[in-house]
Amino acid sequence: MVSRSSSKPTPAAAGKRLTARTADRHDLYQRSVQAPETDAAFYARWFKKYAGRELRVLREDFCGTALLACHHVKRHPDNRAIGVDLDGPTLVWGREHNVRPLLDAEQQQRLTLLQKNVLDVQSPKADAILALNFSYSVFKTRAQLAAYVRNCHRSLRPGGVLFVDAWGGPDVLRQQTDRTRQRGFTYLWEQRRYDPISHEITCAIHFEFADGTRLRDAFVYDWRLWTLAELRELFVEAGFVDVHVLWEGTNHKTGGGNGVFRRKERGDMDEAWISIVVGRKRD
Ligand SMILES: C[S@@+](CC[C@H](N)C(=O)[O-])C[C@H]1O[C@@H](n2cnc3c(N)ncnc32)[C@H](O)[C@@H]1O
Repeated sequence: MVSRSSSKPTPAAAGKRLTARTADRHDLYQRSVQAPETDAAFYARWFKKYAGRELRVLREDFCGTALLACHHVKRHPDNRAIGVDLDGPTLVWGREHNVRPLLDAEQQQRLTLLQKNVLDVQSPKADAILALNFSYSVFKTRAQLAAYVRNCHRSLRPGGVLFVDAWGGPDVLRQQTDRTRQRGFTYLWEQRRYDPISHEITCAIHFEFADGTRLRDAFVYDWRLWTLAELRELFVEAGFVDVHVLWEGTNHKTGGGNGVFRRKERGDMDEAWISIVVGRKRD
């Protein structure tokens, strides 16, 4: 058994002042863009609504540091998670900074991390598959994305559910950088380039610190921006049923999202939106 104390705390977790030299990019990413406890509860709730049973086996595709997978395992003694990511060092970081500190030995037995291409994993079969933070956008042709969605269909148990998030709106097509203040640093999301012909989009994450230092290009994404219409069609072609979109409501004070998702057939003309495409495998 690996003891909890064997894991090295990140500089931020240790309460040290962050600078570009001391900060850890995975830690900053998790603090800026992830809400794993909330997300684990959110997907468990929607899964139960769709499947009429509890979400027990979760596959987190493109899992990165597997933080969400860890929180799913923690939620219930019968929960299991499979995290899949191509990148070995990212998975190693996740084991050291998430799996070991968050999960005891028994819980660790219920988590499997696979360093594999998501196209090559079909088992163990899952109740739900999540592909979050738009990671499937690495697939730049319809044939590649179709192969991915088909592979998810094959990997689910009967009645299983695939959830992928999506983003769009006119704001997303603009060259711009959004800044968000976090505790001890600033998170920057840069929309660097968008090509209207191929729909390819390059985005990057940077971090800035109080001492004026910067971590530039901490993460760079070379993606294709997929539309909800394309995603829905690919789900249907792969054999999913009850394919639909969960659309986020608007916070009328800020004009941004309010965190409340509802099944909708028509969206709003928001400047920027995030939504979730859902499909169920037949029982
Ligand atoms: C944007 S990160 C997403 C991390 C996490 N899912 C989240 O929601 O924040 C994308 C991850 O996808 C992984 N990745 C890219 N292509 C992949 C593939 N074909 N199969 C498995 N993992 C892949 C990368 O290594 C990276 O860790």
